Amino acid sequence: MRAALLVAVFGLGLVALAQADDAGLDRAIGKALFERAWVPAPSSTRANDGLGPLFDARSCAACHPGGAGRGATVLEAQGHPEGLGLVLSLIRPDGAGDPTYGHRLETMTLPGVPAEGVIAVDVKAGRRIPRIEEPAYGPLDPATRISLRAAPDLRGRGRLEDVTDAAILASEDPDDADGDGIRGHARRLAMPEHGSSIGRFGWKASHATLESQASEAFALDLGLATPLRLEPWGDCTERQAACRNAPHGREAEGEPEIGEAIMQRIVAYLRGLDTPAATPDRRGAKLFASTGCAACHRPSLATGDGGSAALFTDILLHDMGEGLADPVGVPGAAAGEWRTAPLAGVSQALARGVGLLHDGRAADVAAAVFWHGGEASIARARFDALSPRERRALIDYVSSL
Ligand code: HEC
Ligand code: HEC
Repeated sequence: MRAALLVAVFGLGLVALAQADDAGLDRAIGKALFERAWVPAPSSTRANDGLGPLFDARSCAACHPGGAGRGATVLEAQGHPEGLGLVLSLIRPDGAGDPTYGHRLETMTLPGVPAEGVIAVDVKAGRRIPRIEEPAYGPLDPATRISLRAAPDLRGRGRLEDVTDAAILASEDPDDADGDGIRGHARRLAMPEHGSSIGRFGWKASHATLESQASEAFALDLGLATPLRLEPWGDCTERQAACRNAPHGREAEGEPEIGEAIMQRIVAYLRGLDTPAATPDRRGAKLFASTGCAACHRPSLATGDGGSAALFTDILLHDMGEGLADPVGVPGAAAGEWRTAPLAGVSQALARGVGLLHDGRAADVAAAVFWHGGEASIARARFDALSPRERRALIDYVSSL
């Protein structure tokens, strides 16, 4: 089965892979699938195709490059993103997408179906305000709001799945009972995924599992159906008739284009990725705790297997204030609420010139802290009050993670 999948999809690499153990082989196949540029249906390979009709990248790696790292966030002079690391989410307050454009602005398409539009971003006082140029299907619904989202680093994130619901719930403090100004609550999902109804993945903790998050990417970004999201037209709405009627890659009604075998190997690849090695300095770690950063960016969380997830997050949503707020919230996550961003891998983002925060607006750690408000106001004030030497040591510490 594995060999057949490899030959069908890639037709290469078998010799080197023949030596690998089963788990190693699954990860290697998963890596190739993560990097694979999907093709439209019908194609000569038949199996595993069906890109689009609407899409905004051809592979997972196009947005998560460099071994599942962060996507590019740089804007060129006219405000268009360079590269594919920024996407536009279309959101209505009830959690639905736009009735015409769906949940995502797809910027690419197949012949015969108009692409939805072009992402452009205005920068005002350091904030990124997205807009849609050349909208091909008329105006958005008046209730639809748009949010710019950066493609995060995926390395080590598989460990978030191993943190038990109980461990996440233990650090909730919705009424600020301990009086430290930090509340924080878990994202409760309406539909439990694999038994957990607590969101772990995405900037707003919208998914409990890697599979569910990856299925969303296949549906919204690549236009491919998976066992969890069977519509072969991805994010095309009923109002986008040409898109709904275009050829797709499923072989039979109700069959996904991306089967469970492919999905499980992509998940295995992501789960096998470690965070970049850091050499944390003890003084910096102390300052990180005493300034209050560690209250949200928890250096490690206990996992169900007796180990720990050392990602610097509590997996809770926190109100970060007006400066970071989206124009609208969704059920379970208010406009200003974001999952504490895991800091593991920040060093690599900085080395590659990729911006921080959910829309990539912050060029470095100090700029990211500048935007911290709401529940992080006390930590922000303590950060501002540090001596220049201490502040430097804290910034260096976070920049080394
Ligand atoms: C067009 C760009 C794009 C493509 C293609 C893409 N992603 Fe993403 N990915 C993103 C963005 C943007 C987010 C953050 C989404 C959010 O929270 O709103 C994300 C988030 C994720 C996360 C959650 C990470 C975290 O910190 O919680 C995972 C896992 C992930 N993607 C996996 C995948 C996989 C697997 C594929 C291929 C099937 C893929 N992505 C394809 C842009 C992309
Ligand atoms: C109340 C909880 C909270 C506290 C306290 C807090 N943060 Fe954050 N931090 C967050 C959240 C939530 C985000 C994501 C915000 C967003 O992207 O809109 C974040 C994002 C970041 C980022 C960007 C990470 C990325 O991947 O883009 C950095 C860097 C950061 N915080 C550093 C710090 C430092 C340093 C401190 C202490 C001075 C601190 N934070 C205190 C919750 C907190």
